[in-house]
Amino acid sequence: MKAIVVTDQAAGTAGMTLAERPEPQAAINDVVVEVHASRFVPTELAWPSTWTDRLGRDRTPSTPGHELTGVVTALGYGTTGLLVGQRVVGLTDWYRDGTLAESATVEARNLAPLPGDVDFTVGASLPISGLTAWQGLFEHGRLQAGQSVLAHGAAGAVGAMVTQLAREFGAYVIGTGRAADRQKALDFGAMEFVDLDNDTLADVAGVDLVFDVIGGDIQMQSAGLIRAGGTLVTVVGPPEARPADGLAVDFVVESDRAQLGEIVQRARDGRLRTNIGNVATLDDAVAALNPTERISGQTIIRVRP
Ligand SMILES: NC(=O)c1ccc[n+]([C@@H]2O[C@H](COP(=O)([O-])OP(=O)(O)OC[C@H]3O[C@@H](n4cnc5c(N)ncnc54)[C@H](OP(=O)(O)O)[C@@H]3O)[C@@H](O)[C@H]2O)c1
Repeated sequence: MKAIVVTDQAAGTAGMTLAERPEPQAAINDVVVEVHASRFVPTELAWPSTWTDRLGRDRTPSTPGHELTGVVTALGYGTTGLLVGQRVVGLTDWYRDGTLAESATVEARNLAPLPGDVDFTVGASLPISGLTAWQGLFEHGRLQAGQSVLAHGAAGAVGAMVTQLAREFGAYVIGTGRAADRQKALDFGAMEFVDLDNDTLADVAGVDLVFDVIGGDIQMQSAGLIRAGGTLVTVVGPPEARPADGLAVDFVVESDRAQLGEIVQRARDGRLRTNIGNVATLDDAVAALNPTERISGQTIIRVRP
């Protein structure tokens, strides 16, 4: 089968090549998925799991991409809960070959059914951004209706989901980002917008939850805006700052079939809008994932037409 592979961490996304790889085989509790659409997160190439296995041994050439939609073509020994021919969506194991490929093996528990009326391209944009927002807001941030959320990067992949889910849940949402993204963030449901290059973050009144996707100085300033008992949730590594009287939490998103189902249902009924900027084929994936100009929104690789 055809797949994108990487072998050289220093080369970054420029080191991606389209290669011929062995057909994946299903192990216990796995399914093989014929991939229809895949998404790749550029920071994957900085994660150890792209380069080594769980014992730290080199696992290159490895195939990146950990979000997919597709159709189940085979079941491994003992696999339950999914059927051959079923449409699925999911977030795959960081330590296994990924989804920028014609087929992928995935543990069944990492997949959820994808209803027939949800397009494969839309579905592939949901797992990481949707699950990260869901887990950050509701599990780690323990958001309550009526609280306020500072959603950084509100026009980005995660931030757009944070903004929409927090609004739906009854929170007051202040979005942040680049000046050019103001309208996009407001369209996703932010009630106010802070242009981080030109406005003063310190002017924001106290908030109950900061959802950080940027880190550094922005995170440090944001920690000072958190009300007593509030939470800083960050997804860009161990917290560099803590609220004076609150919690700081960092986490890595996990697959969760029930949460994926909630997210897919919201995309289906229009409560969640996705943030797709470009769609390319697998043959064109290397170029699409090495853009020469800024692309606002996610790049989805449509592996099958
Ligand atoms: N721990 C986890 O489980 C997890 C899960 C998902 C994502 N992440 C991480 O979270 C981060 C965001 O992911 P994403 O997919 O949402 O990225 P994204 O789509 O690029 O969104 C980030 C948004 O924030 C904006 N932004 C970044 N730095 C900024 C700054 N200094 N001032 C103003 N705006 C700024 C970006 O604008 P520009 O495009 O103009 O820079 C973009 O709109 C990444 O580092 C990713 O690796 C972690």
